[in-house]
Amino acid sequence: MEHRKISRAVISRLPRYHRYLGDLLEAGVERISSNDLSKKMNVTASQIRQDLNNFGGFGQQGYGYNVKYLYTEIGKILGLNKTHNFIIIGAGNLGQALANYASFEKSGFILKSLFDVNPRLEGMSIRGIQVRMMDELVDFLQNNEIEIAALTIPKSKVVEVADLLVANGIKAIWNFAHMDLDLPKDVIVESVHLSDSLMQLSYNISRRKEAKKK
Ligand code: NAI
Repeated sequence: MEHRKISRAVISRLPRYHRYLGDLLEAGVERISSNDLSKKMNVTASQIRQDLNNFGGFGQQGYGYNVKYLYTEIGKILGLNKTHNFIIIGAGNLGQALANYASFEKSGFILKSLFDVNPRLEGMSIRGIQVRMMDELVDFLQNNEIEIAALTIPKSKVVEVADLLVANGIKAIWNFAHMDLDLPKDVIVESVHLSDSLMQLSYNISRRKEAKKK
């Protein structure tokens, strides 16, 4: 199925649709109306219809959405119908926590190795996945098809490591370090800042307190 260009706002909501539909599928639900999906997801039914209309033909009047079909199609749009090999650079607290999270594999993200400079971590493995030293990185990239590199290293090392990765063919970076990266246009960078989410929470707490005072 050909998809026309979809706005970033819609794309940013797709992972959530995918997650909810996955839960429904697991629960054996075959179809769902936009109203029921809307109640479950706490978004308006019209937002759901508008979002999903972007892809055309998913919903049918009086029938609702076919959960499996919608789940699969959204998965395809998100590129989840293919596997993506990734590595983690920096096997410290965060790198190890990510490596311990097995659910990425369910969505097709396959962790192939972790890399670090700390010799104490040499030979260690997490869920059977080996931690290697940084001097093995270039060889490893040449001999394995790695699409994504997650960066969980100190901020001061990020520019140098990102340049090395890009010079060795990496085109997608999942950046956890609090440093903006200035890389060639064909390199995709997705940055994650847990503290942004925490600040949103803090903002909402403050707002609720203000509202109570009134
Ligand atoms: P950590 O100190 O436990 O781990 C960092 C690891 O990177 C260490 O094992 C260290 O040996 C390794 N390392 C240092 N230089 C390296 C290099 N040039 N190449 C490869 N490995 C190298 O630190 P932690 O807590 O795991 O944090 C890692 C990074 O993630 C930090 O930049 C931190 O600010 C960031 N962070 C970001 C979060 C977010 O929400 N985006 C949340 C938590 C941490």
